[in-house]
Amino acid sequence: MLSKLHALAGAAYLFFSATAAVGADAAVNIAIDTARPGAKIDRHIFGQFAEHLGRGVYEGIWVGPESPIPNTRGIRNDVVAALKAIKVPNVRWPGGCFADEYHWRNGIGPRDRRPATLNPNWGGVIEPNTFGTHEFMDFVAQIGADAYLSINVGSGTPAEAADWMEYLTTPQPSALGKERAANGHPEPYRIPLLGIGNEAWGCGGSMTPADYVSQLKVYARYARNYNTAQKMQRIAVGPDTGDTGYTQAVMEAWKNKTWAWDIEGISLHFYTVVKFPPTFKATGFGEDEYATLLKETRRMEDLLRTHITIMDQYDPDKKIALVVDEWGAWLAPTPGTPEGFLEQQNSQRDALIAALNINTFARHAARVRGANIAQMVNVLQAMIFTDKDKLLLTPTYHVFRLYLPFQDATFLPAAVSAAEYRHGDIKLPRVDAIAARDTNGKTWLAVTNLDPNGPAEVVVEVAGTKFQRARGETLSAPRVDSVNTFSAPRTVAPRPFVAQASGGRLKLSLAPASVTVVALE
Ligand code: AHR
Repeated sequence: MLSKLHALAGAAYLFFSATAAVGADAAVNIAIDTARPGAKIDRHIFGQFAEHLGRGVYEGIWVGPESPIPNTRGIRNDVVAALKAIKVPNVRWPGGCFADEYHWRNGIGPRDRRPATLNPNWGGVIEPNTFGTHEFMDFVAQIGADAYLSINVGSGTPAEAADWMEYLTTPQPSALGKERAANGHPEPYRIPLLGIGNEAWGCGGSMTPADYVSQLKVYARYARNYNTAQKMQRIAVGPDTGDTGYTQAVMEAWKNKTWAWDIEGISLHFYTVVKFPPTFKATGFGEDEYATLLKETRRMEDLLRTHITIMDQYDPDKKIALVVDEWGAWLAPTPGTPEGFLEQQNSQRDALIAALNINTFARHAARVRGANIAQMVNVLQAMIFTDKDKLLLTPTYHVFRLYLPFQDATFLPAAVSAAEYRHGDIKLPRVDAIAARDTNGKTWLAVTNLDPNGPAEVVVEVAGTKFQRARGETLSAPRVDSVNTFSAPRTVAPRPFVAQASGGRLKLSLAPASVTVVALE
C-alpha cells in the first residue's frame, strides 16, 4: 500500500485504493431543522490543556522576560496572538499527572528563589517552577481565557488545596491574601473552573471509585472560592474511557449529597489511541491506520451515550456537566524527541479527528458543556509548534479557527443521509456534519468528508428557507498524512469556499478527507 501511496503522491488528492465509498457517486443530503433548535453549544467545549510536560509550558508558552524571543512578562507574544485568534475559552493547568504531584507554593514568590523540583511523570526532568500561579494567571489574562485549575488530590492535602484557593480568591487581608498582594496581585483572581483531582484512578493515586468519592467530599468542601464576583464550577474526576465505575459512584454520591459539599461537573478522559503505548504513526501512514483511527475517534459517541445515560438516571435536569477534559490523538512520538515529552506531528487526518470529536460534543451539547484537547502547544495533538523563535500552526489549529462561529451557538439538528466509507472491515459514515445558529442569527454548517478516496457532493436542505449561497472555508490537503513544517508551513491551510445555489438546490462539493465550515446565506 505504501508504495502505491508514494506513486500517487503527485496527484491532486491521494486516492488510496480501489476500496472507494459504497455508493460514493450518490449525493449526500443534509437536512437542517431550524424549527427544533437544541441546546447552546458551550464555547467551553473548545477548551485547551497546558501541562508541565515536555516543551508544552517551557519554550511553548514561557521563555522568560530576558529572552530575545518577543514576550510580555516572559510569555511568548506569538503564541498569545495565535491563541487569541481562536478565542480559547479556558485553559486547564498544571496537569494532568503533573497536577497530582504539584505543590503550588513552589511556584510563587521571587522566581530566582523558587526550588528546582522533579517531574517524574514526564521524562524525570527538572521542574524549575518558574512558571507558577501568577505566570499562569497572567497567561490566561493575556489570551482572554478562563483559568481551569486542577488541584492536587493525588499527593497533596485538603489543607494545601484550601490554602491555594484562599491565596487566589480572597479579597480579604488574610495572611494568604496579603501574600498574594505582596507577590504582585492585590485583586483576587477569578477561578471559574476547578478540577477536584485528575485521573484519581491512575496518575492521581489508583483510587477505587469509593475511595475517590470520600476524598471528593472533603476537597469539594474545603477548596473554597472566596471571590464572590464569580461563580466557580467544581469538576469531579470521572471515567476513564468506558469504565462506568466512577460515573456511577460520583453521580450517586452527588444525588445523596448533604449541604456540606457540591460539584457542578464530572470529567471524562478518552484519547484516540487504540492501545498504550501508542504506536500509530503521525506521518507516513496508510489507509489502514487512517480508517482505524477515525473509527476509534467515533467511539466518543458511544462513550458519551454510556456515561450520559448513567448521569441522566441521577440528574435528569442535567445540572451536572460532562467535561471531556482530555481528548485527542495520542500517536507514536516524533523520532529523536526526548522520552516522555509526547511530541507528535499533526496531519490532515488529525484535523478530521478534531472535527469529528467537536461534532460529537455538539450533538450532546445539553450535557457536554466543556472539553479540553490535549494539549495546547508542542505536546500530543497540539494547536501550535514552536522552534526557538519560530511558531507553526497545525491542521488542528485551523479546525479550531474554522469552528469559531459554533462557540455559544444554538445547535440545530442536521440529518445526514450518506453512503458509507468502507475500508476492509471498517465502515464509517462517509460524511459527518453539525449545524448551528450563531448569536447573530446566522446559520452555520460544519461538514467533514471522511472519504479519502473521492469528493462528496452534498445537497443542503433547510425546510422553509431557500439559501442562495454557502460561504466559508475548507481545510483539505494533498494527502491525509500531509503536515505543516517550519519550512512548508501552509501545506495544510484553510482556503475560501463558496457554493452558489442552482435550480433551488444548494450543492457543496467537498474534497476528499476535508473539513468545511460555511455560513448559509
Ligand atoms: O495528557 C497526558 C496525560 O494523559 C495526562 O497527564 C494524564 O492526565 C493523562 O493520562
